[in-house]
Amino acid sequence: AVTCRGERFKLYLSEEQIQSRIRELGEQIAADYADVGIPILIGVLNGAFMFTADLMRAIPADSEVDFYKLSSYGERKVSSGQVTELKNVDAKLEGRHVIVVEDIVDTGLSMKYVLDQIEALNPASLRSATLLRKPEAAKVEVDVDYVGFDIDNLFVIGYGLDYGQLARNLRAIYILDEEA
Ligand code: PRP
Ligand code: MN
Ligand code: MG
Repeated sequence: AVTCRGERFKLYLSEEQIQSRIRELGEQIAADYADVGIPILIGVLNGAFMFTADLMRAIPADSEVDFYKLSSYGERKVSSGQVTELKNVDAKLEGRHVIVVEDIVDTGLSMKYVLDQIEALNPASLRSATLLRKPEAAKVEVDVDYVGFDIDNLFVIGYGLDYGQLARNLRAIYILDEEA
């Protein structure tokens, strides 16, 4: 267990579980794009920085990377429903094979926002990947092509996911320990 901002969290997904699932996703992406072209991963900052780095290294083939920066949660534990764009992508995405990479799809608003923005740039193809997805929290319908884990509707931290900007450094994913 870990403590973050005075609250206790217990292990939910171990480093081994996360890394072994990422290896599978990397192999799957390499196979899917072998006859398509070199994909460009667009990580959504800040949360997806760690998953994007690990996913890219798990793809045994060429890929490129760039980043998009959004904020929707603010300092709260529940999604605010308001998506704010903080940084657009620098790479030219027209004609590219784009994969948007998120750490978590919660209400789906952030993923949908980025997918809509990139779709308008006329990529050759557009897919999405997320380490975590909360099916019960969905507010908008968004198809995600590569999903690490479908999880319960719980507040999760670690592995890029923050609680008031802390806990992103943890190698595993944790949930609030209600018994503490
Ligand atoms: C979190 C998370 C996703 C998004 C998911 O980002 O990293 O990007 O919220 O929620 P949604 O599906 O309800 O939109 P956050 O806004 O906290 O910014 P951060 O990545 O910098 O932590
Ligand atoms: Mn995020
Ligand atoms: Mg956050």
